[in-house]
Amino acid sequence: MSNWNSKYFIPVISFLIFSLFVGYSFISAGTTQNSSFTQFQIEAKVDSILNLLTLKEKIALLHGNSKFSSTGVKRLGISELKSADGPTGVREEVERDSWEPLNLETDSATFFPAGPALAATWNRDLAFRFGEALGEETRARGKDILLGPSVNIIRTPISGRNFEFFTEDPYLNAEIAVRYIQGLQSKDAAACIKHYIANNQEWMRWQIDVQVDERALREIYLPVYKAAVQKADVLAFMGAYNKVRGWYCCENDYLLNKVLKEEWGFKGVVISDWGATHSTVDAALNGLDIEMGTREKYENYFFADPLMKAVKKGDVPVSIVNDKARRVLYVMLSCKTTDSNRCSGSIGTPEHFQTAYDVASEGIVLLKNSEKILPLDRKIIKRLAIFGENGTHCHAQEGFGAGVKALKEIPPLQGLENKVGDEIEIRYAQGYEEKYNLIDIGRRWKIRVPDSTANRDLIREAVEIAKNCDAAVIFGGSNRSIESEGFDRKDMKLPFGQSELIKAVVEVNPNTVVVMIASAPYDLAGIEPVVSALLWGWFNGSEAGTAMADVIFGDVNPSGKLPFTMPVKLKDSPAHALNTYPGENMTAIYKEGILVGYRWFDTKEIEPLYPFGHGLSYTRFTYSSIQTDQNIYSVDDTIRLSVTVKNIGDRAGAETVQIYMHDADASVVRPVKELKGFEKVFLQPGEEKEVCVLLPVRDLAFFDDQVMTWVVEPGAFELMAGASSRDIRGSVFINVQ
Ligand code: BGC
Repeated sequence: MSNWNSKYFIPVISFLIFSLFVGYSFISAGTTQNSSFTQFQIEAKVDSILNLLTLKEKIALLHGNSKFSSTGVKRLGISELKSADGPTGVREEVERDSWEPLNLETDSATFFPAGPALAATWNRDLAFRFGEALGEETRARGKDILLGPSVNIIRTPISGRNFEFFTEDPYLNAEIAVRYIQGLQSKDAAACIKHYIANNQEWMRWQIDVQVDERALREIYLPVYKAAVQKADVLAFMGAYNKVRGWYCCENDYLLNKVLKEEWGFKGVVISDWGATHSTVDAALNGLDIEMGTREKYENYFFADPLMKAVKKGDVPVSIVNDKARRVLYVMLSCKTTDSNRCSGSIGTPEHFQTAYDVASEGIVLLKNSEKILPLDRKIIKRLAIFGENGTHCHAQEGFGAGVKALKEIPPLQGLENKVGDEIEIRYAQGYEEKYNLIDIGRRWKIRVPDSTANRDLIREAVEIAKNCDAAVIFGGSNRSIESEGFDRKDMKLPFGQSELIKAVVEVNPNTVVVMIASAPYDLAGIEPVVSALLWGWFNGSEAGTAMADVIFGDVNPSGKLPFTMPVKLKDSPAHALNTYPGENMTAIYKEGILVGYRWFDTKEIEPLYPFGHGLSYTRFTYSSIQTDQNIYSVDDTIRLSVTVKNIGDRAGAETVQIYMHDADASVVRPVKELKGFEKVFLQPGEEKEVCVLLPVRDLAFFDDQVMTWVVEPGAFELMAGASSRDIRGSVFINVQ
């Protein structure tokens, strides 16, 4: 043996055997996780791997090494941790070190409906299927983490990202998010719930300091995140850009260490929003685990070389780095990153399009049908006028931020044409023109603001067509250039002079249906009195047009219910009524506290245009026999509330029974109504069912910020069953002792 051999042979061979062993252990840990491997075994395996890592290797796990990945440990067969944007489809590939799309042929995906559309279904099973399909697509694209769901509370109607979020209500938010995450993570991908927390406006999101009181934090903003940890074992959190109470969310000891990790027992990783890290030591000590970003030199990231220096200097203890690396490995093992049996996923399958269709069709909301124009009758209508750019506009990609390169997107006009074939003559005209003005919003940002002037020639053309048709459908609303990440809308105005078009067409053809394609509240008060048939259609994914055509012609009976309040005017909604939007001196004080959304409108007795939970059907439902199994409960009990729902029309349909609570003897301000349960029932004509909702008495509590705990006060509580928050069909009083 040469000198070299004698010196290096034994260590090298030992190292190879060792690496093989560890690589095998790593792989086998993942293999069995979803079958027999227990949490305890995963954690033990994580520890054994951690012991083999150098400090440098651990730190490499904690920051981006490309736009959407962080480093693995090659020598142990641990690959990069790869993420992709959601939340409504897997984003196309961009270059490793820039946001430039790679323009591949292979990175298209199913485009799923917008967040509020999913919430509008009020269907937990659909949320699970949505997550499952998204999980399969995440895996098929070779990703480990899907950056979604996006669950910020819809606090103001004009927040740019409302189209991603679910709702203004914390209970509905949690119910939908939990099933979405469970579905997604069942496919060996990690969900990354975002944006933790209070990223409720895009205006100055990088700096704004949200001053929110503890009770509102606990009752309104935190519940979805807590449920994601405790009911869905979510594997990743994304720290938001903004500050909360003076501290950036990615270095906020209270939110990350105290609440998330200590109080709730979160085991996964906290990932910074892209570029949301502002320090090394504070972020490291205060709970951030992985820094992702947009800067080029990855070694300069706060959690790269500067973290190594801080550890060497003693500013960040090694134990903190170990904890973070342990969490990264835990996520990897939990979603089987190097396992040969890992779900390999599938993309754009008929099942995924079916899920997109089911969500789209169940999410469409029938806001008004006072003259029973809808559904249109195929036997009677010979000539149908269709107007509006949103008849043909696709919504998968536009505006700033993540979109989906959709494998297909059927816009409404195409959906209608596919449906009626030669049976009905469709006459389409543009109706309005999508025109924008470029506005400078500072920091070298220019946004496209929709022009609200009407195009008279287009209106004249539409009117002439409408006069000679049996019915007309106008597709108005907005698009993803108007509702976008990065900026808020200026107001709630309908864009492009749509109100004028609608009024002119209705005047010559009263059989006019107006369909709003938008995913946040708009000012409909101007058109509401003249329109008798109004549908809300969302940015509704790959099968948007198919679903819309089925609803318009009655093959699908609409069952969507609004997941937010549609105010008469912007000033009616709490943040605007109290002048707390967008804040002053980079501070937004959430003065409305717990009175967010319908909690505000009900308590302040402000009439909304359409209330939270509102949505009609082509049939009618009656509610009767609302009752509870007892009259008196103690705090540990669960109330069994039942109500009989009957379909008294002549079409099959679905109704979402909403259960609201009011604490009649509260010693503190409590909203007039708080959603505490819901159940969606499908009923044939004439059929009735007893709907049963289980309500743990503890869920009736408020958060007492004096003693920092949840309190159920003894006394009377009213439990209400409603078809919306303003359409209460029956109530019952119970007593808590
Ligand atoms: C958004 C995140 C997104 C990230 C990566 C940020 O600007 O706020 O939601 O996941 O970019 O694209």
